Amino acid sequence: MRASVLSDWLAQRLDRGNGQPVYRQLHRLLQQAILSRELPAGTKVPSSRLLANELGIARNTVTQVYEQLVLEGYVTSTTGRGTFVADSAPDEIVEAPEAPAQPPAPTAQALSVRGARLVAGSGVSKRQMGAFMPGVPDVSRFPAQVWNRISSKYWRRLRPELLTYAPGGGLALLRHALADYLRTSRSVRCTPEQIIITTGIHQSVDLAVRLLSDPGDVIWTEDPCYWGVRSVLHVSGLRSRPIGVDAEGIAPSPDDLANPPKLMLVTPSHQYPLGMVMTLARRRMLLEYARQHQCWIIEDDYDSEFRYGSRPLASLQGLDTAGQVIYVGSFSKTLFPGLRVGYLVVPEALAESFATASAELYREGQLVQQAVLAEFIAEGHFTSHIRKMRTLYGQRRQTLLDAVARRYGDALPTVGGDAGLHLVLQLPQLPREADDRKVAAAALERNIVVRPLSGYYADAARAAPGLLIGYACVPDEEIAPAFGLLAGAIDEMLGRGA
Ligand SMILES: Cc1ncc(COP(=O)(O)O)c(C=O)c1O
Repeated sequence: MRASVLSDWLAQRLDRGNGQPVYRQLHRLLQQAILSRELPAGTKVPSSRLLANELGIARNTVTQVYEQLVLEGYVTSTTGRGTFVADSAPDEIVEAPEAPAQPPAPTAQALSVRGARLVAGSGVSKRQMGAFMPGVPDVSRFPAQVWNRISSKYWRRLRPELLTYAPGGGLALLRHALADYLRTSRSVRCTPEQIIITTGIHQSVDLAVRLLSDPGDVIWTEDPCYWGVRSVLHVSGLRSRPIGVDAEGIAPSPDDLANPPKLMLVTPSHQYPLGMVMTLARRRMLLEYARQHQCWIIEDDYDSEFRYGSRPLASLQGLDTAGQVIYVGSFSKTLFPGLRVGYLVVPEALAESFATASAELYREGQLVQQAVLAEFIAEGHFTSHIRKMRTLYGQRRQTLLDAVARRYGDALPTVGGDAGLHLVLQLPQLPREADDRKVAAAALERNIVVRPLSGYYADAARAAPGLLIGYACVPDEEIAPAFGLLAGAIDEMLGRGA
């Protein structure tokens, strides 16, 4: 097919009455034409202005479809020359799967009350990488060769004791390596025995609340907070009391303070998801309050290694003199989430009980992996990887901030980008029919994953509209085009012209 007849071919196939957005239909039709070689490699496709005129659709829609096809490798675009079908197109159409047939709603008999609540309120995403998945590092940069070398050594000279169940708390070698790292990098005060290896922060929080509270006890959570740990708390039967946050971190009101909880869960180094750092005054206040009222503070230190422009901040645990803080950390952001290794640091008096309980409840293993990780840390590869990734993510963050500023100036401010792997783009208060969830859904139509900020709030009265945009796992050159696609979705929902 020659480019000159492309518009007619598309016009015959676009169906405005079938409920599918024009953007999606046009994208799919062009993919089909390229894959079936009806549009051969090297063909120049019509300009966005011409094609939009001939099809009677918005030029913006055509521009966004072309940008998406560039990202996917179907076409290439050269400024001044135009857009051409690529020499080798991807083999298969890669698209978001069609919505599966709805399974029958679980009946009250099938799921428990807490089970049904967990599934109904779940926040987990179907996609776990690509633009702009929050909270996921660039896993393609993991130094796999180094890991492979250490791992091969352990498998060659296998010690049978590494193939059985883990001793309570995990492999001593890893607990030693971690104690050194946490002391020097996070100002955590601990011995190796106080460290309990887990499969990540989800499991660490699960273990801590099972051992330190009973169903019905109250836990303070930050509002907004991470949906994952909120779910862990709910299924444990705890009653969450969402506490608002201000510029200094969690901000309990006099009424809250009058009713001490059994536990509180905070993200002092980088409030999730808004990104503020808890001030020293607020840290002291919380520690003193916890000491007076005998409550536990769970400190979730999930991504503070990545701080741009200033040094990583010391932990809350390092300030605790009364043994009230349970510190939880993870390799999900520093190495890769699929590793599933995290750790708790518990006060000395609890160490033995936590080690026993973790072996009792979870029957841990993965000792070869723990040995490899210990050596990876001890040989300095861990800190060197963090250093490299900090530089890389810092550049990506800046590329994203530049793209936001070019498009919106000061109209849509960002917050929380001083550390971590994501930032929050604030949206104006939106009419109901265009809330941030709808913006995120419109972005997904363009193959862009962002998370609506309002979904992180427990108290609807506090919920502010915004989007969590993860930049760490997006290659530099894809950030600006992907943000262009996202901006298309934002503008469409806000009713702004591009
Ligand atoms: C605040 C916070 N805590 C914990 C986690 C999950 O940690 P893990 O993978 O170790 O379970 C995340 C993941 O995004 C997070 O954002």
